[in-house]
Amino acid sequence: MTMTVELDARAKEILRGNDRGGYTVPTHGLYPYQWNWDSVFSAWGFSTFDLPRAWVEIETLFASQKADGMVPHIIFHQVDPGYFPGPDVWQGGGEPPTSGISQPPVAAILARLMWEGDRDAGRAAITALYPKMVAWHRWWMEHRVVDGVAVVTHPWESGRDNCPDWDHGMAGVDGSNVGEYHRRDTGHVDADMRPKKIDYDRYLAIVYAGRSMGWDQARVLAEGPFLMTDPAVHFILLRAMDDLAAIGRDLGQDVAEVEGWAETLRAAVPDMWNPDLGAYDAYDLKSGQWANNLGTGAWLSYLAGVENAAMDARLTKAWDKVRYGIPSADPEGATFNPKRYWRGPSWAVMNALIALGFQRMGHEAWDARLRRETADMIRIGGFAEYHDPLDGSPCGGANFSWTAAIWLTWAGRD
Ligand code: DGY
Repeated sequence: MTMTVELDARAKEILRGNDRGGYTVPTHGLYPYQWNWDSVFSAWGFSTFDLPRAWVEIETLFASQKADGMVPHIIFHQVDPGYFPGPDVWQGGGEPPTSGISQPPVAAILARLMWEGDRDAGRAAITALYPKMVAWHRWWMEHRVVDGVAVVTHPWESGRDNCPDWDHGMAGVDGSNVGEYHRRDTGHVDADMRPKKIDYDRYLAIVYAGRSMGWDQARVLAEGPFLMTDPAVHFILLRAMDDLAAIGRDLGQDVAEVEGWAETLRAAVPDMWNPDLGAYDAYDLKSGQWANNLGTGAWLSYLAGVENAAMDARLTKAWDKVRYGIPSADPEGATFNPKRYWRGPSWAVMNALIALGFQRMGHEAWDARLRRETADMIRIGGFAEYHDPLDGSPCGGANFSWTAAIWLTWAGRD
């Protein structure tokens, strides 16, 4: 097992090594651009040893905010043929060009932690960022909330690309007409750890549909081929609203609008409860079916201050089936796979978000257990993109920025 001091040094080296000047790539090769939520986690990691660099990361991300407030999920700073689909496929506009969808809105959550760590150093940055974060949250409320519940229009918008949550919605997407294309991810990473070709065909079909609408987000929502509620994004957005309101209050802003959004999201929480599953669940708005998957969405409820005693026992039972952190899919589910991306592996970054929830709800023992398991997993498997939750072995890309960041901010701390 590697020592903490060595891992601290290695984590910093990874963040420095993935720094492309103002923005950080998730990892060299597999992901050569700026990804929205990866970038915010990188900023959080940088904040432990280079606070000015941390704020620059978020500023660079928000520099690509669209006129309607959306902060895109990928910013293609420098064209790199090692990634597909690139800016020519997305046609999301912007300079630098971007994708046409967003990603889970973690910025306000982590920016608040960074700011509260050193208010003087962060005051100018947070003051400039605040109205931009408000505009992004407004975009979510206008374009990605249906009847009070957060939705995603593409599995990539959830950040959990191939998790079982999306199986019903994906089954309704026709991927048969996307033509020939050359995936690059499987040239970097073992194909058994990545989504399947049938998934990629459908991912592309959804991109082509949005592109054909000129990424008019009202049309993407109303007419796109995929639309599912996402409890994970819902709870992240709700927590981010609470944090944004807290930031705004500290800055002397009128936060009534932000509080109103939080109220709307909070009031809709019971609508995400699937009684058959006994947990918060994703729902396919196209086919009218619950995902019936005990997944990340349920685990993230604590992050938003939501607790449900009926669910706790279900969740801890699932957790007890693995050894290293929270599995991204139910270990007792029929399609559980400990190595395939979001269909079972443990993600240090998700464990950290879930732990923020445990801290909020006073679940100290769970927080300590999750931190210990995540630290052990990193000691065994290194700074991998994600890990096998049964044996801690590394999966996906190596030298990953967000896993390094989670080590520095939480998993590697006593
Ligand atoms: C990918 O390419 O795997 C990404 O998750 C898309 O955002």
